[in-house]
Amino acid sequence: MGYKVAVAGATGNVGREMLDILAERRFPVSEVVALASSRSIGTEVSFGDKILKCRHLDTYDFSDTDICLMSAGGDVAREWAPRIGAKGCVVIDNSSAWRMDPDVPLVVPEVNADAAAGFTKKHIIANPNCSTAQLVVALKPLHDAAKIKRVVVSTYQSVSGAGKEGMDELFSQTRSVFVSDPLESKKFPKRIAFNLIPQIDVFMEDGFTKEEWKMVVETKKILDPKIKLVATCVRVPVFIGHSEAINIEFENPLSPEEARNILREAPGVLVIDKHEPGGYITPHEAAGEDATYISRIRDDPTVENGLVLWCVSDNLRKGAALNAVQIAEVLANRKLITPKQKAA
Ligand SMILES: NC(=O)c1ccc[n+]([C@@H]2O[C@H](COP(=O)([O-])OP(=O)(O)OC[C@H]3O[C@@H](n4cnc5c(N)ncnc54)[C@H](OP(=O)(O)O)[C@@H]3O)[C@@H](O)[C@H]2O)c1
Repeated sequence: MGYKVAVAGATGNVGREMLDILAERRFPVSEVVALASSRSIGTEVSFGDKILKCRHLDTYDFSDTDICLMSAGGDVAREWAPRIGAKGCVVIDNSSAWRMDPDVPLVVPEVNADAAAGFTKKHIIANPNCSTAQLVVALKPLHDAAKIKRVVVSTYQSVSGAGKEGMDELFSQTRSVFVSDPLESKKFPKRIAFNLIPQIDVFMEDGFTKEEWKMVVETKKILDPKIKLVATCVRVPVFIGHSEAINIEFENPLSPEEARNILREAPGVLVIDKHEPGGYITPHEAAGEDATYISRIRDDPTVENGLVLWCVSDNLRKGAALNAVQIAEVLANRKLITPKQKAA
């Protein structure tokens, strides 16, 4: 007997990846239901070797569903997550709508799996922003070893982080450049093809963007509120895979070699760090993979205890779908929820 799982946003970048990952990792399901907007009723999506026909989120009855993996945007999550939760179905949401709610755990299983047990207040668990997820996976083992004081991070984020419309815009603009057609920017504020954009999400009053703010507050909530962090988030013309250049200042000394050994043992991390041309990971190589890759670990000579490193991960997997399925695995493995059909 397994869990009845609904995937809300099943036609999207993250939703399709969720269906793949549920099948790949053989999550114990009794049934999987694909949900999307009215635009997609009847649209076929794959789940392992099966084809599912999408149903309309608005008319689906969640009473006998155990888990809803949701990736349908903030507005949908704000409206629907509490309603679904009230039916006793645990929502694992990928949007930013619930992340900072004190009654909603924000979980990256490699870092704070225990927090998942706090889902009972609202029956909602939040998945962090894609750039935060890979960052905290990299930081956690180093924080345990030498206590992080301050982090400076610059991101190089792929267009798939802006959904399927973001990917379409990079594709069509790139094509337009080659055939000398006029370029149209709808999803991004400036041209993304053969360019990059130092703005992700909206501007806040202090001049930071909301994406940069999210990285600060989410890292504090997941890892440690005492860590100081400043971020610059940049959209780059890469389809899948977010990269981050991370400067870390520690309370205690930690050599690059020690950090390399610690990270080699860390859950979810793969270290590829050869000091030779190509001895590091790029987003193209991380796409489709589960790991958070760490390369270019070196000493920061400008501070007393500092390291610099390069971190790359598939934003649709660890940054979203994989993390959500891992949270569902925590709920199942720790028996925090029981399948309703079994209980009945
Ligand atoms: N992409 C990433 O790297 C990433 C990482 C972390 C978190 N997230 C978050 O995950 C969410 C989805 O991202 P995405 O990249 O998968 O976007 P996407 O490719 O644009 O897909 C959006 C999905 O939401 C569905 N949807 C939209 N409006 C809906 C409605 N009113 N009712 C039901 N379903 C609705 C869409 O269905 P239709 O096809 O029917 O329109 C589609 O399945 C967003 O909140 C995003 O911030 C994304």
